[in-house]
Amino acid sequence: MATTDLIDLAIETSKKAYVPYSHFPIGAVLLAKGGQIFTGVNIENASFGLTNCGERTAIFKAVSEGVLDFEELIVYGETDKPISPCGACRQVMAEFFPQDLKVTLVAKNKSTVVMTVKELLPYSFTDLE
Ligand code: THU
Repeated sequence: MATTDLIDLAIETSKKAYVPYSHFPIGAVLLAKGGQIFTGVNIENASFGLTNCGERTAIFKAVSEGVLDFEELIVYGETDKPISPCGACRQVMAEFFPQDLKVTLVAKNKSTVVMTVKELLPYSFTDLE
């Protein structure tokens, strides 16, 4: 699937976000090697700290299905500038993705910023091994 189609899927996916507290839906689309696609949304909780971000939902869905080889990640948020993943999600990306994996960050108006995992989390803990 082309990145533009994955962006549309991320926007569509964000409609499933469970966001009764923030009203800030996120949609993530994770493309695995071989073409399998895993979607993820943010899932909030009355105990706010238990919230799971869209990026981590997609990654955890894939890993729990035994899929560990990934091609690219798309993240959509209803922001003016392309969404910026939180630190926890960057650390989880560093755990499961190659450093040069392409991450496309998408804004409300579909403008994008494309970054690698290494750019999102330089000098990461996983670099030290
Ligand atoms: N959130 C994500 O799911 N991904 C991001 O990249 C940024 C933040 C969620 C967490 C929470 O449900 C809401 O957005 C507001 O912080």
